[in-house]
Amino acid sequence: MQEKKTFYITTPIYYPSGNMHIGHTYTTVAADTMTRFKKLTGYETYFLTGTDEHGQKIEKKAAEAGVTPIQYVDKIVAETKELWKLMDIENDDFIRTTEERHVKVVQKIFKQFYDQGDIYKAEYEGMYCTPCESFWTATQLVDKDGVKVCPDCGRPCQPMKEESYFFRMSKYQDWMIEYIEQHPDFIQPAARANEMINNFLKPGLQDLCVSRTSVKWGIPVDFDPKHTVYVWIDALSNYISALGYGTDHDELFKKFWPADVHLVGKEIVRFHTIYWPIMLHALGLPLPKQVFGHGWLLFGTDKMSKSKGNIVYPGPIVARYGVDALRYYLMREMPFGADGNYTNESFLTRVNADLANDLGNLVSRTVAMIEKYFDGVLPAWDEAGYVEAEDAALREHCAQLPQLVEAQMDKLQFSQALTEIWKVIGECNKYIDLTQPWILGKDPEKKARLADVLLNLAECVRFVAVLVGPFMPKTPARIFEQLGLTDDALKTWESLDSFGKLPAGLQVKKGDALFPRIDIKKDLEILSGGSAETAPAPKKAEKKPEPKKAEPKEEAPASEITIDDFAKIQLRTAKVIACEKVQKSDKLLRFTLDLGKGETRNVFSGIAKAYTEPEKLVGKTLILLSNLKPRKMMGELSEGMLLSALDDTTGTLRLLTVDQADEVAPGSEVG
Ligand code: MSP
Repeated sequence: MQEKKTFYITTPIYYPSGNMHIGHTYTTVAADTMTRFKKLTGYETYFLTGTDEHGQKIEKKAAEAGVTPIQYVDKIVAETKELWKLMDIENDDFIRTTEERHVKVVQKIFKQFYDQGDIYKAEYEGMYCTPCESFWTATQLVDKDGVKVCPDCGRPCQPMKEESYFFRMSKYQDWMIEYIEQHPDFIQPAARANEMINNFLKPGLQDLCVSRTSVKWGIPVDFDPKHTVYVWIDALSNYISALGYGTDHDELFKKFWPADVHLVGKEIVRFHTIYWPIMLHALGLPLPKQVFGHGWLLFGTDKMSKSKGNIVYPGPIVARYGVDALRYYLMREMPFGADGNYTNESFLTRVNADLANDLGNLVSRTVAMIEKYFDGVLPAWDEAGYVEAEDAALREHCAQLPQLVEAQMDKLQFSQALTEIWKVIGECNKYIDLTQPWILGKDPEKKARLADVLLNLAECVRFVAVLVGPFMPKTPARIFEQLGLTDDALKTWESLDSFGKLPAGLQVKKGDALFPRIDIKKDLEILSGGSAETAPAPKKAEKKPEPKKAEPKEEAPASEITIDDFAKIQLRTAKVIACEKVQKSDKLLRFTLDLGKGETRNVFSGIAKAYTEPEKLVGKTLILLSNLKPRKMMGELSEGMLLSALDDTTGTLRLLTVDQADEVAPGSEVG
């Protein structure tokens, strides 16, 4: 028998310094969705997640709570596992860095690096950020009101000197650059690869501090026990220690390594695409095939964080709307790779529009009409195989859907994959309006036509049910139940190889609405009435003062401005990562822009009529008015304005682009 193809996917291992929130849930749901999709399409999958339990921060938290570090993390790990169950996460393993199986592998790797000269002992002098547990060089620190602060969290750093072991990263710098350049798929989205090369590798790779003497809560360096292994060697090794690497039980390692994809947040792409590959290379191991750096779920314009008190937890949302609604929202709302905003309003709007209206109505209308016109029994397909033109278009589109979805999933474009499915759902709803089954139902001679229409719809619903499964694991069974479909062979990916397999005679039965309609106004109040920690209200728009009456304008030549006026305007280069037409608008394009250094922006621009193939804009470098006050458009924030030129004779509208864009990094100042 031919062996199944394998697929190994990981999430970062999370710090159990506090409970996991919707941001951690986002990555874990993405990994779970991908795993389920690969399983559906015939792969043997392995999905690893876990917790990164050592370090000063945990030590401090435990002390504050009056418990030992292990007691502290045990509790959070137990709650994390519960949360993943609640979210229908089907991970194959959960690695904890405090487990013996991990500790042993880390010690072995560390010793090997030392023995082969990759690790050496020296004195470390640098700036240290305690909350982030990161050393920074003077040039990496950021100036904030005259104080040098951590580039990640913006808090002040302290000078620190200590005996440490170092990993000779510098030795591998050229190899790393070449590897990234020769493997364009290794770092995704591609803009992040340029960022790694230009910001970290080309300026010169510093050797990495890999042990500490002042942190006790860590894995001891077994040949020099006053040192503990410091952060990244410990954390990154989880991806292979969990597979039994370096032990007698390394069957999983042999089967699944190299990983197909590590999913990571954008702020830790650097560790996964520079330090981790170098470590693996030094161990003589193959590199993961891909590292995908996704964006952040923001709250307003802030990253969620405990210190800002703006954390959203999934529990209350799942309790009220169900896990599938939240999973759908997380995978649909923002393109994977870009940042996005969580607001209660955008969540409720999506659930109503996409789930209650589009999907829910399609299923309930289809089932209700089969009940009404065929006593709830699915009629047989027309033996002559006659197909009307409007049927052919729908059937063809639906038959192509699995491949359209797979093409997006292969790029981890969850949102686009769902968009493809929802296009068919939309087409089905239009097909109902076009064929008007309620009119056909009045004429006994049109019974055969009515049967065709309802069969086409029911079969589309079957396709949709199979394909939404990886995103919304509970929904397919509920749909199949309404269709009366019990044959498991018709719920598989393989069964979507041709259209028209739904057998005659199924007894359909209308069930509860898949996703009940929400009274958004009422629910917004309920959600915002919750504690700020569980269900924060979307920020209310500031009330603007009434504008003063305008002074009569002088018909003067265009007024001059001073250089100080101009200085208020911040123009920056912005590289297009994604661009798509906004569905419910004929004017708007939605841009996802790379502004360098990990910053991405969501910007709407009213130029859809001028650019009918928006995807062709991907990769172009444009000019963005970057300090324009963000404003809400189509329920989302637009964070800036793209500059364009309008020819007032022909009406041609064209975006301003940068000449020789590859020589100017995204985010560069324009002026
Ligand atoms: N322990 C390290 C990872 C080591 S992996 C070898 C760590 N942990 S973390 O708990 O701080 O973050 C884990 C992941 O959660 C990161 O990928 C981070 O980007 C992600 N997220 C945390 N908050 C997030 C959002 N608000 N939105 C999206 N992802 C976020 O880093």
